[in-house]
Amino acid sequence: MKIEKWVVAEHHEGVPDVERVYHKVTEDLDTELGDGQMLFKTLYVSVDPYLQGITLDTPIGDHMGADSVMEVLESGPNAPFRPGDLVQGFGGWRSHLVSDGTPALWQTGTFPMVFPAFRKLNPDDYDERLPLSTALGVLGGPGMTAWGTLNKFMTVKPGDTVLISGASGALGSLLGQLVRRAGGRAIGSTSSPAKAAYLRELGFDAVIDYQQGDDLDTVGEALRSVAPDGIDKYFDCLGGAITDAAFSMLNVDSQVAVCWQWATQVGNDYTGPRLLPYIMFPRTTIRGIFSLEWFTEQNWAALHEDLGGMIRRGEVDYIQTVRHGFDDIPAAYGSLYVDRAVNRGKVLVALD
Ligand SMILES: NC(=O)c1ccc[n+]([C@@H]2O[C@H](COP(=O)([O-])OP(=O)(O)OC[C@H]3O[C@@H](n4cnc5c(N)ncnc54)[C@H](OP(=O)(O)O)[C@@H]3O)[C@@H](O)[C@H]2O)c1
Repeated sequence: MKIEKWVVAEHHEGVPDVERVYHKVTEDLDTELGDGQMLFKTLYVSVDPYLQGITLDTPIGDHMGADSVMEVLESGPNAPFRPGDLVQGFGGWRSHLVSDGTPALWQTGTFPMVFPAFRKLNPDDYDERLPLSTALGVLGGPGMTAWGTLNKFMTVKPGDTVLISGASGALGSLLGQLVRRAGGRAIGSTSSPAKAAYLRELGFDAVIDYQQGDDLDTVGEALRSVAPDGIDKYFDCLGGAITDAAFSMLNVDSQVAVCWQWATQVGNDYTGPRLLPYIMFPRTTIRGIFSLEWFTEQNWAALHEDLGGMIRRGEVDYIQTVRHGFDDIPAAYGSLYVDRAVNRGKVLVALD
C-alpha cells in the first residue's frame, strides 16, 4: 500500500529549521505480515521539544520517531493486538507502519534511548471530557512526567513556593494546577503576555516574563519580586539564566527537578555561574527526570485514576492545541520554537 512518512534529511543543531530538516516521502509499504507483526494506521502524532535530540540521533533518510496513537488495521500470526485495537507507541511521523510493537532502540551518542513497547489503550478510558488525543497529553507522556514528578520525587507542602520555568506548555500548565491543589504557591514563566494571562486563569499565583537569552539580573529581579522568601521547589524546563537565578534563591530542604535544558540542548549556551555551591547550605536535592522510567501498567492505571479523576471532577483542567493533517506535522513541531504564541498546553496533530 502507498504510505507517507517524514524523514530526517539533515542534521543541524539549534532551533530546528523544519523545512530543511524534514522531507516527506511517499513509498510502497509491504503489508505482508510476519510473525507478531501488525499493520497500523496513525491517528494522532505528538510533537515535543525533545524531538530535537531524537532528530539528531536519527540516521539521514530514516523516518522521524515520535509518540503516536494508532489503530490496528491487520494482525499477523501471534500478534499481540487485534484489528480495531487502539494503541499508543513511538510509531513516528508515518501515516501507516508495520511493526511488532516491541521496544525499539533509538541510537544516541550519549544515552541509549529505547522507545517502550506499544501499549493497548482501553477505549472506555476516553470520552468527550478526555478524548483519545489525551493519550499523548494529559493521560500520556506529559501527564506522566508532571504527575510522576510530584508523586515520586517532589514533595510539595502547603505554603511552598514552587517555580516552573517554561510553564505554558503541556507540563507546566498541569504542574501549576497540581502544585496549587497541594497547597503550594505556583510561579511560572512565559515569554507571552497572553499566555501569562492564561496561566493566571489556571490558578498560577504569579507569572514572570522570561525568554532564553534574557540576562541574569533582569530575571533575578523579576523572580525576587514574586518570591521574596525564596524558592522551595523548582521544576526546570529551560535551564539558562532563569535556572541560574533560581539556584541563588533556594530555601532549606529545597528540591529541583531537571526536566529539560533548553539553554544548552537547543540554545548551545554553556556559560553561567557554578551552581553547586548554592545547594550546600540549603541541602537541596536535585533529580533528573526521565519519565520513561514511569511508563508501567501500574503507573498508567494510577495516572488515569488519580489525574483522570481530578479532571473528570473538574478539579484540574487541561488544554491542548490540536492541529490537523499529515502535512502539518513539521510546522506543528516548529511552532514549539518559533511563533509559539498561539500554542496552549499540549500541541499535537490529528491525521484527519
Ligand atoms: N525529562 C523528561 O522525561 C521529559 C518528559 C516530557 C517533557 N520533557 C521536556 O519538558 C519540557 C516541557 O515540556 P512540554 O511538553 O510542556 O513542552 P511545550 O508544551 O513545548 O512547552 C515548552 C515551554 O517552553 C517555553 N519555551 C520554548 N522556547 C523558549 C525560549 N526560547 N525561551 C523561553 N521559553 C521557551 C515555552 O514558553 P512560551 O510560553 O514563552 O512560549 C513553553 O512554556 C520540554 O522541553 C520537554 O522536552 C522532558
